[in-house]
Amino acid sequence: MKVETRKTIPYPDQKPGTSGLRKKVKVFRQPHYLENFVQAVFDVLGAISGKTLVLGGDGRYFNREALQIIVKMAAANGAGRLIIGQGGLLSTPAASCLIRKYQTLGGFILSASHNPGGPDEDFGIKYNATNGGPAPESFTNAVFARTLEISEYRVADLPDLDLDRTGETQWGSMSVRIIDPVEDYAGLMEELFDFKLISQSLKVGALTVCFDAMHAITGPYARRILEDRLGAAAGSVINAIPKEDFGGGHPDPNLVHAHALAELMNAPGAPVLGAASDGDGDRNMIMGARFFVTPSDSLAILAANAHLLPGYREGLCGVARSMPTSQAVDRVAHAMGIDCYETPTGWKFFGNLLDARKITLCGEESFGTGSDHVREKDGLWAVLFWLNLIAVKKQPVAEIVREHWRRFGRDYYSRHDYEDVDSSAAEGIMTHLRGQLADLPGKRFGSYKVAFADDFRYEDPIDGSISEKQGVRIGFDNGSRMVFRLSGTGTEGATLRIYLERYERAPENHGLDTQESLAELIALAESLSEVKQRSAMAAPTVIT
Ligand code: G1P
Ligand code: ZN
Repeated sequence: MKVETRKTIPYPDQKPGTSGLRKKVKVFRQPHYLENFVQAVFDVLGAISGKTLVLGGDGRYFNREALQIIVKMAAANGAGRLIIGQGGLLSTPAASCLIRKYQTLGGFILSASHNPGGPDEDFGIKYNATNGGPAPESFTNAVFARTLEISEYRVADLPDLDLDRTGETQWGSMSVRIIDPVEDYAGLMEELFDFKLISQSLKVGALTVCFDAMHAITGPYARRILEDRLGAAAGSVINAIPKEDFGGGHPDPNLVHAHALAELMNAPGAPVLGAASDGDGDRNMIMGARFFVTPSDSLAILAANAHLLPGYREGLCGVARSMPTSQAVDRVAHAMGIDCYETPTGWKFFGNLLDARKITLCGEESFGTGSDHVREKDGLWAVLFWLNLIAVKKQPVAEIVREHWRRFGRDYYSRHDYEDVDSSAAEGIMTHLRGQLADLPGKRFGSYKVAFADDFRYEDPIDGSISEKQGVRIGFDNGSRMVFRLSGTGTEGATLRIYLERYERAPENHGLDTQESLAELIALAESLSEVKQRSAMAAPTVIT
């Protein structure tokens, strides 16, 4: 095997965001762009000689091309073995599962998650570490620093690998194993959930499901697990064939983008459970008939009921949520007498807590829930969790949620996104908010009195690392909150996210419309941030 060392020059924009490096395909296609980033990861890893790496992606446009490049670079950098999903496919949680199961050094996941795909759309790459989780900030910062000084990369002179045939082959100096992308992951799910009970409930028709794979990676996973193994009716999985451009849609499971599912769930004769996942399979949306479960509530409900399911029978050691996620899970943790951690946005912040067994379950308001079974959020896992829960409780989704609210109170919750805002206008909004933080505490606005206002700073309880400026929080004395932060996953302009929540203990007030119940808080958030004037936008682009 001939190894070529090629000269390159640095790109200034390879700083990984909330979840890896995401850019337009056109950006990735610039000469040596992908190569620089991959080499920088290898350089920071140091000794990869003889080590095993997992490779796969969500199947979006450029996935296969990028994989061929990484295979040749891995060989040139001395990797001993590669484990690759057949067709170059692996969902993000399945990649995490493989890294852990086969105790590999780590892996590359090729995905831009819920961002659209295609020649004019987005691509992404991220490195996951030995624990199966996204590399921590210390690592991604080192990779970024390395990309700024890189001058050469190594690539092996090998033909393209056949990604479609399973089995083990010798490729240059490495051994390469192409595996079925679903099998190991499905096995793990079977350990966690009561497949027998779920399949009985499906068989007798007590349980019916519609899963929208949104033309993305979970299609093959959901078909195999839900239809083939559990016996859900054929056709329960819709939009099941992964497409390079996700059929032209946004593979983002929310009421706006998963509209086919939302329509079905609001029509007469809707299935008991409706669910969807995103481009790379780590997000989930949960619905019942004519009922939408907010991700924050879903996390709280999973935490309150986990002990009913085989994989969690021994109880939870603790829970965590990202800072902007509603405080619903905090109430459950309090009632159960377990710790609840508040982390910055992004799954990487849960890794240390999971590794140290401080938490078992964790989640984010952005349609992400997961547990210690892998080190990523996991869309299908959440769906199986709900299926198992419904099979145990024999109640419709809406009833499970309402019962939860009666017990713990309801956290009305919504996120308002202003997308594609001019970057300096968006920075201006954040600076304007930060400028008010010192004066806000004690101030009264209508029925809301400010209890605290700060820019969230996180000190990791395990390794002591500090992450600053993770979002402006304004808390009120009645427990309500608003949070402002800029997205770290976009590829164009800036996205301002405004997160709003209001707690309501009294069951007679649990039936309000979410936007109406938050109206006063929304108006206050808009006025404190001056978002409309500064962004020149009359309304949010997406409300979830
Ligand atoms: C968004 C979500 C965040 C999630 C991330 C990756 O990041 O808000 O919770 O972890 O996508 O799926 P953001 O664009 O807000 O930085
Ligand atoms: Zn995703």
